[in-house]
Amino acid sequence: MAEQRTSIHGQWTNRTVFILAATGSAVGLGNIWKFPYITGENGGGTFVLVYLLCIALIGIPIMMAEIMLGRRGKQSPINTMIALAKEERRSPGWVWLGWMGVVAGFLILSYYSVIAGWAMSYVFRTGGGMFLGVTADGVNSIFTDLVSDPERLLAWHTLFMVMTMMVVSRGVKNGIERAVTFLMPLLFGLLIVIVIYAMTTGYFMEGVQFLFTPGSIDGKGVLIAMGHAFFTLSLGMGAIMVYGSYLSKDHSIVQAAIWIALADTVVALLAGLAIFPIVFANGLEPGAGPGLIFQTLPIAFGHMQGGTLVGVVFFTLLVFAAWTSAISLIEPAVAYLVENKGLTRIYASVLIGVFTWFVGLGTVFSFNIWKDKTFSIPYMFDNFTFFDTLDYLTANIMLPLGGLFIAIFAAWVMRQQSTRDELATYPFIYMVWRVLVRFITPLAVIVVFLNAIGAIKI
Ligand code: PHE
Repeated sequence: MAEQRTSIHGQWTNRTVFILAATGSAVGLGNIWKFPYITGENGGGTFVLVYLLCIALIGIPIMMAEIMLGRRGKQSPINTMIALAKEERRSPGWVWLGWMGVVAGFLILSYYSVIAGWAMSYVFRTGGGMFLGVTADGVNSIFTDLVSDPERLLAWHTLFMVMTMMVVSRGVKNGIERAVTFLMPLLFGLLIVIVIYAMTTGYFMEGVQFLFTPGSIDGKGVLIAMGHAFFTLSLGMGAIMVYGSYLSKDHSIVQAAIWIALADTVVALLAGLAIFPIVFANGLEPGAGPGLIFQTLPIAFGHMQGGTLVGVVFFTLLVFAAWTSAISLIEPAVAYLVENKGLTRIYASVLIGVFTWFVGLGTVFSFNIWKDKTFSIPYMFDNFTFFDTLDYLTANIMLPLGGLFIAIFAAWVMRQQSTRDELATYPFIYMVWRVLVRFITPLAVIVVFLNAIGAIKI
């Protein structure tokens, strides 16, 4: 039975370490790079509101479910699904959920690594004083120069993938514990420094208004907001599940999930408060796309006192935040290869890493030589580059779909006795959780999907 099972990959030293590691997974490029630019592209206020609702009503309940499944199964998500389905006497077919997560994880990492490469190159650009006294046009051309050079992007992408493989091959625990304990609080502090700079631009209130005043949003925007709630909390693909499998039985899942979601959301909102005042103060476009933070933050670093140092430290921390997320993206796959194929962690990490690196070439080229090669999928999107397509399919389709079935598994397939075993330390919260994952969460995901393709109108 679940109680006796232990993970062959080891266990977190204590609950704080689990929370740190899961927060390390959650807080990453999603918060600082992606949240601001998709908020900008989707008109601000209403988008943020929908995103926050999704975090509360969909994200937190699914995070609890995912940690719970992992902790009960104690194996990679693929084997956890097999074990739990068997334990509940259900079809082993549920294993596909684990597989979809593995695929989503390496597809996400393939482009995540390229963007993390941008952040790495910005450490050096800032350090070299490239942004001192810079204008908005200047920052823009520095960014365009970088992304139009496939060789440079490739070099950074390669370096980041090597860094990721190094940590994963040493085992997640040893690699992460130190990084997250010191670096995350520092990142938090620096974001506050940038927000304070943003207050001095004279456009702070414009930024606040943009983020928090409701406007209009379409069905696609709602889907993107929901997809981002999954992406930013690392849900729907097994990252949190596999971290949950290294958690021991005597820790409260409920508290952990709430802490992780809270920390993640605060970081995203701080990033928004840092960036949008700079956007408006410099007459920039909020909908500038994936380059947004690279075209705004350097202006702050080029003009504030001690900006070079703040900038270097900031981009370094951003790279660390991306690093602690990246390792969780391939941990499910690596854990599986170790369990089923008897590979060593090193071999498994390199194998998955090289494969991911290769797929990443598509993203590297989609900002330059393949800029005009686009894809369209009816009812979903038109003329998306390779990068846009990967991002859309993973964040807006695969993760919510994974999350939907995790909710269904936890609420309808598992016996109530099993979930109560794991979550009932707070009986009231357990009840609320159960109503949410049984009805509200699945329904919300389905409605958002149907609404986005125009099948229904809300
Ligand atoms: N949550 C990470 C971020 O916001 C990305 C991620 C997604 C990590 C899915 C793991 C799984 O950057």
